[in-house]
Amino acid sequence: MALESAPLEDVADLFTQILLERSDQETRERVLPREDPAELRQLLDLEVPEEGLELKEVGERLRKLVRHTPITASGSFFNQLYGGREPASLLGEVVASALNSSMYTYKVGGAQVLVELELLRQMGRRIGFEHADGVFTPGGSLSNLTGLLLARDRARPRAREEGVGGRRLRVYTSSQSHYSVTKAVGLIGIGLENLVRVPVDERGRMDPVALDAVICADLAKGYQPMMVNATAGTTVLGAFDSLEEIADVCERRGLWLHVDGAFGGSAVLDPDQAHLLAGCERADSVAWDAHKVMGAQLSCSVVLVRERGLLSASLDENASYLFQGDEEELNPGTRSLQCGRRNDALKLWTLWQSLGNQGMAGRVARLRRLALHAARLVQKASDLHLVRDPEFLTVCFRVDGIRAEDLCAELTERGLAMVGYAMVDGEAVVRLALVNAQADEAELDRLFEGLRMIAKDVRAALVA
Ligand SMILES: Cc1ncc(COP(=O)(O)O)c(C=O)c1O
Repeated sequence: MALESAPLEDVADLFTQILLERSDQETRERVLPREDPAELRQLLDLEVPEEGLELKEVGERLRKLVRHTPITASGSFFNQLYGGREPASLLGEVVASALNSSMYTYKVGGAQVLVELELLRQMGRRIGFEHADGVFTPGGSLSNLTGLLLARDRARPRAREEGVGGRRLRVYTSSQSHYSVTKAVGLIGIGLENLVRVPVDERGRMDPVALDAVICADLAKGYQPMMVNATAGTTVLGAFDSLEEIADVCERRGLWLHVDGAFGGSAVLDPDQAHLLAGCERADSVAWDAHKVMGAQLSCSVVLVRERGLLSASLDENASYLFQGDEEELNPGTRSLQCGRRNDALKLWTLWQSLGNQGMAGRVARLRRLALHAARLVQKASDLHLVRDPEFLTVCFRVDGIRAEDLCAELTERGLAMVGYAMVDGEAVVRLALVNAQADEAELDRLFEGLRMIAKDVRAALVA
């Protein structure tokens, strides 16, 4: 039977079979060692056939493809700020895909739009925005871009019409902030030379005194300070900029405050870590990824804006063939960078429904305990050296006798774990990301045993 006309039951059966096979592979193998792309191209049937294939044949090709895809859902994935798999989120994701709603209008999204609005309200309330505006985006990068765009339009109300000529607009961000901020500055037309990198303290937090000083210096040069990007949870060290102090500077100077909480926004969900975001309610906009610490399937992010109406003021366009009837609030397309848009809200909703507020808080607290456990393992070993005490859910350390790059490659090669490295103080260090709820203490114990063994082998080979 051609796949095109296969009964839905057969498609659903195939999906179930692939999912269960994958889950079995994840349990058995944990990590897929890197495969050579040229060999993979040979092995897989990637080319598009002239004539359509049977369901069985497409299924075979798909299963093979899945078997050769790096594993990110086992408890051995510590490479980035996502990982694992929450079945409740997967359910929402699959259903959203089956519904195939585009989230620009209530007319075609209906109840799904209400789900998105409810989640934005919930997340806004947690940040401290009582009547937040917001929209789901495909990731923190786009949430940051949206925040920057609004800041530009606040500083130059006619930027959309006339461009951003005239006095140089300046954006301030810490030297540890995410590269998406740089990218966004380049995109919104104010010029990368106008992005000012503010120094950080020992823990990786923006120095608010230095911030004020560079703003003063810029004013003296005739520049127009526009916005400060504060990071809540930096990508490498997990540092939280002091939002209260930065908000004071922004208020004093009349600047837009955007908080990049793509990673650390979720700290607000755990009563023991919520203090890290103190002052967030004073921000003008906040980026927050649910596909990182909250565990929603990729991709799932929101941008929240304290003042209602600003998103649509910057992004709404007249499209009479699309926005037909219904008040603006019910048409999220009027607040989005996108036109057609996936339903990213449903997978977060099903996850949050299944965990409840308590379960979600418990998840964030448990990840923190894992990070502290990993840090203790580093501290206990004489050949491992913690680069900083972990501020949040990343643990950065050096290993005697082996470069972080080589250690990470070897960990994957031996099928032990997928871990990444990052630059700290000009040196590559191992950066363990603890956002994968599939991992546990025993998994971390095995990982550290394995990585110390690799380092020992390398040191022994050097002596021999
Ligand atoms: C602090 C921070 N901001 C933004 C991003 C970008 O998020 P995304 O990958 O969802 O675009 C990341 C990603 O790791 C991040 O760590």
